[in-house]
Amino acid sequence: MTTQTDPLILGIESTCDETGVALVRGGTLLADRTATSMDEYARYGGIIPEIASRAHLESFLPTMEAALAEAGVELNEVDAVAVAAGPGLVGSLTVGICAGKALASALGVPIYGVNHVLGHLAVDELVDGPMPEKFIGLVVSGGHSNLLLVNDLATDVVELGGTLDDAAGEAFDKVGRLLGLPYPGGPHVDRLSQEGDREAIRFPRGLAAGKDKERYKYDFSFSGLKTAVSRYLKALEVEGTEPNAADICAGFSEAVNDSLTAKAVRACLDHDCDTIVVGGGFSANSRLRQLLTERAEAAGITVRMPPLRFCTDNGAQIAAMGSQLARAGVAPSSWEFSPDSQMSLEHMSMP
Ligand code: KG4
Ligand code: ZN
Repeated sequence: MTTQTDPLILGIESTCDETGVALVRGGTLLADRTATSMDEYARYGGIIPEIASRAHLESFLPTMEAALAEAGVELNEVDAVAVAAGPGLVGSLTVGICAGKALASALGVPIYGVNHVLGHLAVDELVDGPMPEKFIGLVVSGGHSNLLLVNDLATDVVELGGTLDDAAGEAFDKVGRLLGLPYPGGPHVDRLSQEGDREAIRFPRGLAAGKDKERYKYDFSFSGLKTAVSRYLKALEVEGTEPNAADICAGFSEAVNDSLTAKAVRACLDHDCDTIVVGGGFSANSRLRQLLTERAEAAGITVRMPPLRFCTDNGAQIAAMGSQLARAGVAPSSWEFSPDSQMSLEHMSMP
């Protein structure tokens, strides 16, 4: 829902390799532009923070100009700036925060240093309309796999659980590396898994049985699974058998997504919620989308998943988060805040 009196928010995302700038009024997206330095990392097999920081510096102003032009607004019409304050890479965050503070100060408007991960859920409002009263948030990205009880995205988020080791995207990237796929491996493993047989190889599900199942009700563990894939590949190598990469990816993907979806549905039922909102780069995963839809439907739960373009890091998620905070009357951040690379998921914005 949007009214003309809702503030016009300029959102800045620079947590990792994407430089995103977007304009949002209320729950309406006016423009969203992204530049990425991802192509520079394929040869290193991972992000190089110094290259990413420099790329943000180079891309920020052109990306902002393009977003303003797309929205058809002038910079001086902006009512508040929202910038990702964390979690993320400190150098990358610093570039976005510097830019955001300079803009807000020059324009004489407030700034919100917002939680980038919660932004992955907030972006859903721009697509599916006002957020439900209370919902379970499943955040799945390169760095996070968390279940959140969201009573209000602007004021009240409770972390129910998360991964004890690797995040889902990280596990996919590691298995991609084991199979010799290009970085980042996640989308490649996903593509291959769609050609494989999910039942051919049964890999272990972490924290799914015995005492662990109760003790770590809403937590995940994917590192044992990655080790199982590694062992499986080594055993084939010793035998001199060529691995069937599609079946390995399908079996591995099934194990990850079985855990994520079973626990998300359980959290929803346990907390009397009727909606799961999914966000983060890994929510592009085809099997996650399919299995979660199936299981949620069977349990009478609605699933809200942003379209693929909003799954990876983008300015819209930051502007959407800023818009939630501004409309809820949350105090803006002070001028002194700096990046928080480990920002807690229960902290919506910097004080
Ligand atoms: O949220 P995001 O863009 O960055 C972080 O904030 O972490 O997530 C990136 C992660 C990477 O690990 C990438 O491999 C993974 O999401 N990813 C996927 C897929 N698309 C992106 N993993 C599995 N299947 C996909 N289709
Ligand atoms: Zn992200």
